[in-house]
Amino acid sequence: MKLLTTLHAGMGKKTALWQNRGSDFLDKYVIRGGKPLYGEVEISGAKNAAVAIIPAAMMVDGVCRIENLPQISDTDKLLQILSLMGAKVRFINPGTVDVDCTSVRLSNRIFSLTKQIRASYYLIGSMLGRFGEACTTMPGGCNFGVRPIDQHIKGMKALGASIEIGRGLIQAKAAGGRLHGARIYLDKVSVGATINIMIAAATAEGMTIIENVAREPHIVDLANFLNSMGADIRGAGTDVIKVRGVQKLHGGAYSLIPDQIEAGTYMTAVAATGGALKINNVIPRHLECISAKLREIGADVQEGGDFVVVRREGALYRANVKTQPYPGFPTDMQPQITTLLCLAQGTSIVTEGVWDNRYRYVNELRKMGAEIHVSGKTAIIEGIGHLTGAPVAACDLRAGAAMIVAGLCAEGTTVIEDVVYIERGYQDIVGKLRAVGADIAAISEPDDEPDGNENRALDDVG
Ligand code: UD1
Repeated sequence: MKLLTTLHAGMGKKTALWQNRGSDFLDKYVIRGGKPLYGEVEISGAKNAAVAIIPAAMMVDGVCRIENLPQISDTDKLLQILSLMGAKVRFINPGTVDVDCTSVRLSNRIFSLTKQIRASYYLIGSMLGRFGEACTTMPGGCNFGVRPIDQHIKGMKALGASIEIGRGLIQAKAAGGRLHGARIYLDKVSVGATINIMIAAATAEGMTIIENVAREPHIVDLANFLNSMGADIRGAGTDVIKVRGVQKLHGGAYSLIPDQIEAGTYMTAVAATGGALKINNVIPRHLECISAKLREIGADVQEGGDFVVVRREGALYRANVKTQPYPGFPTDMQPQITTLLCLAQGTSIVTEGVWDNRYRYVNELRKMGAEIHVSGKTAIIEGIGHLTGAPVAACDLRAGAAMIVAGLCAEGTTVIEDVVYIERGYQDIVGKLRAVGADIAAISEPDDEPDGNENRALDDVG
């Protein structure tokens, strides 16, 4: 029973701070495929930098201005969390926010939000650094199989925290009220653990050396943010990071790097639909492995100072892709590139090198005619040249992005459900795509099964 349908056709839909409609509405995207993309698209600030930097702002004494902030639901929720803890959050314009954490305190009012998002685990590091103790829920997040946080816990313990996990909560306390420096070797290259330990160590007493760390661009961005607020962090971007703890961090202004994965998604979209897109506000170096793979598949990619131009007119060719930590091919581009390879000539092999279970979206692509065989971490893709529109769901954030890429190049109409996942990480994707010629619209419908969807939102979104 659908009572009302609202079409957000003109400018796409924006996520407004603290105006999420919760589970009363279900949003869908409707795409009429087969239109090549032409024009220019602006890339927003990096989601994965933002979701680390907002919690880290809690450590800052004074006003911290964050610029180039993406307007997405994950950043909304993290700012809400800080606000519930007593921070003053003030938007200067949609991409610039002042956060004043002078009066923050621990609060159990944040729990309904912290369990919705993965990045809430950074609150462990920032609360420990700020208060010498932490209390939050176990994180939510996209479901790629088991997502342990043992390396985060190992790091916090090495820095002198005692940790208790039970009833869905994580509680931590630094002996003597302040963490101390330590030498920590990560058993697994983990983006989250690297970031969390860096945040916690920024105000710990003495030197922390973290070995076998991740090298993603947003790790460098977080180190630059913390350093600009008075921290002393060296080595970010290599596999050893040294953090000399300081007494406190001071206010300042910081502009986030552009989003590597948002850019990669638009690059893949135009490779799939054909056409020519100039993708602005990017750091081409962060996109090198994506650009190289798209060239191998048949797109033309030209790099400028802060833009890339991607053109595709001719045939697409098979390729093998293995996802790896940076500077390897990003796992967060795996669903999108798999979708593109469905259109290529020949058989491609994609190997997932980071997550145990990141092929749940393949069932959705099969509904559009894709021929993909998955065995463990390997997907074998028979290039069939085209996809056909179908009703599909976004199983998680990047799976949702892949459904958009598929819908844009498919023959006929694709309706994507559960787009709440996509809006976690893509600012105004409907508006940006419409501006370059895509026939895509967001539709809101009242949810006639509120209970089921409430549960799903709490379990999976984040
Ligand atoms: C981050 C990104 C996510 C991306 C991933 C890999 C954010 C908010 N999310 O997730 O989009 O897909 O990096 O690039 O930045 N692991 C452990 N123990 C731990 C932590 C991780 O075994 O304590 C394992 C994981 O199961 C996984 C691998 O390490 O197999 C990488 O995980 P990690 O880099 O930590 O991913 P996230 O930080 O959660």
